[in-house]
Amino acid sequence: NELSSLLLSSCEDIHVTICPLLIVSLCLFSDVAVIYPQDPVLRMGSNLTASCWIHPDLGIHASSLFWTLNGQQLPNSLYRVLSPTNLSVTLAGLNASRQTSGDNLVCHNHKGHILAGSCLYVGMPPAKSVNLTCWSRNTKDLTCSWAPGGKGETNISTQYTLKYKLRWYGKEKECEDYTHTQPYSCSITRDLHLFTPYEIWVEASNQLGQATSDVITLDILDVVTTDPPSGVTVGRVGQLEDQLSVRWEAPPALKDFLFQAKYQIRYRLEDSQDWKVMDDVGNQTSCRLAGLRPGTVYFVQVRCNPVGIYGSRKAGIWSEWSHPTAASTPHSERLMSGSCDSKSSGDSNSTLRRELKQFFGWVRKHAYGCSSMSMKMYDQWRVLMQKSHKARNQVGSPRG
Ligand SMILES: *[C@@H]1O[C@H](CO)[C@@H](O)[C@H](O)[C@H]1NC(C)=O
Ligand SMILES: *[C@@H]1O[C@H](CO)[C@@H](O)[C@H](O)[C@H]1NC(C)=O
Ligand SMILES: *[C@@H]1O[C@H](CO)[C@@H](O)[C@H](O)[C@H]1NC(C)=O
Ligand SMILES: *[C@@H]1O[C@H](CO)[C@@H](O)[C@H](O)[C@H]1NC(C)=O
Ligand SMILES: *[C@@H]1O[C@H](CO)[C@@H](O)[C@H](O)[C@H]1NC(C)=O
Ligand SMILES: *[C@@H]1O[C@H](CO)[C@@H](O)[C@H](O)[C@H]1NC(C)=O
Ligand SMILES: *[C@@H]1O[C@H](CO)[C@@H](O)[C@H](O)[C@H]1NC(C)=O
Repeated sequence: NELSSLLLSSCEDIHVTICPLLIVSLCLFSDVAVIYPQDPVLRMGSNLTASCWIHPDLGIHASSLFWTLNGQQLPNSLYRVLSPTNLSVTLAGLNASRQTSGDNLVCHNHKGHILAGSCLYVGMPPAKSVNLTCWSRNTKDLTCSWAPGGKGETNISTQYTLKYKLRWYGKEKECEDYTHTQPYSCSITRDLHLFTPYEIWVEASNQLGQATSDVITLDILDVVTTDPPSGVTVGRVGQLEDQLSVRWEAPPALKDFLFQAKYQIRYRLEDSQDWKVMDDVGNQTSCRLAGLRPGTVYFVQVRCNPVGIYGSRKAGIWSEWSHPTAASTPHSERLMSGSCDSKSSGDSNSTLRRELKQFFGWVRKHAYGCSSMSMKMYDQWRVLMQKSHKARNQVGSPRG
């Protein structure tokens, strides 16, 4: 009993422990108590019977012990006293580990002191990884990402290796640069071959098994992406209440590598989540948005797709969208300033709107998008319209 109190007083009273357990080293002697099996790796849904054996010199009876799993006391009904110094617990239908460092199965004396612990690693053998996709930023790397194929394989430590070889004469190689903010991705940055197809796949393995994904084949030149356009500015088009002009700069890499580009613009109302996309912008670096609501804030983004890289016929991969840029259209009231007859101004407002609608119908039908030709015509048309309204209002005001 002297030994017992000596041993136990040197054990720290830790109720929450993170695996891997260092409990035993916290005690002066490592053979005070032992849990069997130590740190097992098990399949989800399997059953486990673990035992806690205590040194007879401690003078403790096994029936006075209790078990915890992740700090929660397990009910007595799961225990069996195998001998005066050996207590077992049976867990049926094990859940996946909460963390890859394992779940804490701990044996305590009646005061709650920790006598011994074991880490349970519960998961599944890996399934084939899925959704393997790759892209190349400015042809300077080849980055691939994938998703684990099965539930439960990520609950225990699982190694994923991206492997690749050049078709025809390649030797199998492993991607090494996993240092990404994104999990399940890897970048190949050296010895890139721009004109030879790559075969790429993922191998997953853990202590319960291993799996190899389907192989994808690709040419780097077909999966090129670039940075989003920079210097995006959005401004008013004079007093035109339903238009905004968007300007941007081509990503520098486009010049360095003689890519061409096509662009897309998307815009939305300040308080809406619905984006409208203009995808026929072509390779210009400015564009006019038309048919907008007067006096309204719009958010605008632009993205870029490098095309025709080294003569490749395939489109590349769209860049990220640029950071949103906001601008507001002018208020429609300004158009009507100079009018003092509310009735006639209301009439002219609705007349103008009807005509506008007709004009836009015509524009969309004949030259939707960024055709500068139709925009020029439209501007001229608008100026004419505004002049005629002013004239009408001036004629009308003496009457009002
Ligand atoms: C686990 O134990 C239950 C009884 O508690 C039994 O029905 C089941 O078959 C066992 N499962 C395995 C995988 O052994
Ligand atoms: C405790 O009991 C279990 C189950 O019978 C057994 O496997 C284990 O060896 C025992 N431990 C000791 C130290 O006797
Ligand atoms: C598994 O999780 C369920 C729900 O959280 C729980 O009721 C059950 O006791 C757990 N099983 C084990 C063996 O821990
Ligand atoms: C398995 O791991 C995932 C995250 O990796 C976690 O969200 C989930 O809760 C774990 N499953 C169980 C049963 O703890
Ligand atoms: C794989 O991609 C498909 C389609 O994009 C998606 O529905 C699915 O959720 C993805 N699977 C995983 C495991 O991410
Ligand atoms: C846009 O593409 C046309 C041919 O489609 C080309 O003539 C023109 O130079 C390109 N403009 C820019 C800015 O790349
Ligand atoms: C112009 O018409 C719009 C709707 O068509 C209306 O909301 C607005 O109040 C009108 N403006 C004037 C000055 O009448």
